[in-house]
Amino acid sequence: MSIKILMVCLGNICRSPLAEGILASKLPKNKFAVDSAGTGSWHIGHSPDVRSIAVAKNNKINISNQKGRQFSKSDFDSYDYIFVMDNSNYENVIELAETQDQKEKVQLILNELFPNENVDVPDPYFGLPNGFEIVYNMLDEVCEVIAKKLIAKHQ
Ligand code: 4NP
Repeated sequence: MSIKILMVCLGNICRSPLAEGILASKLPKNKFAVDSAGTGSWHIGHSPDVRSIAVAKNNKINISNQKGRQFSKSDFDSYDYIFVMDNSNYENVIELAETQDQKEKVQLILNELFPNENVDVPDPYFGLPNGFEIVYNMLDEVCEVIAKKLIAKHQ
């Protein structure tokens, strides 16, 4: 059975699709499954933002086949690890948790790089074009740490 990891942001079209594609590229597929979701419902069924697709493609990662979906309560039981991109995602997801076990699955992703600092991955949706590259580089760095940790823990 594979270890399941869920990446969560607001729209599931900019940050979490990148996080999904980047982490999946660093993990063996036979042991790990990575997915993503948004807390919002606007982009259900949509492809990732073209700017996320482009920055991923520049780094040889194809996220163009992903489709947006909304986070749901059942995800707490379906996934072993839930990484959220920012503090508002954290609040929105934690609000839906019913048990301590479910709450403990939810982590701010950049806390894996900067423990307890609660730093956000900034939402690039309304920002400057280079915001996507900045987000890509942040996620690449943290996913490297996460992948090493997961592989060590579940080998
Ligand atoms: P994401 O960015 O949470 O990184 O996917 C957003 C994309 C779309 C919207 C908000 C954030 N939106 O309001 O439509």
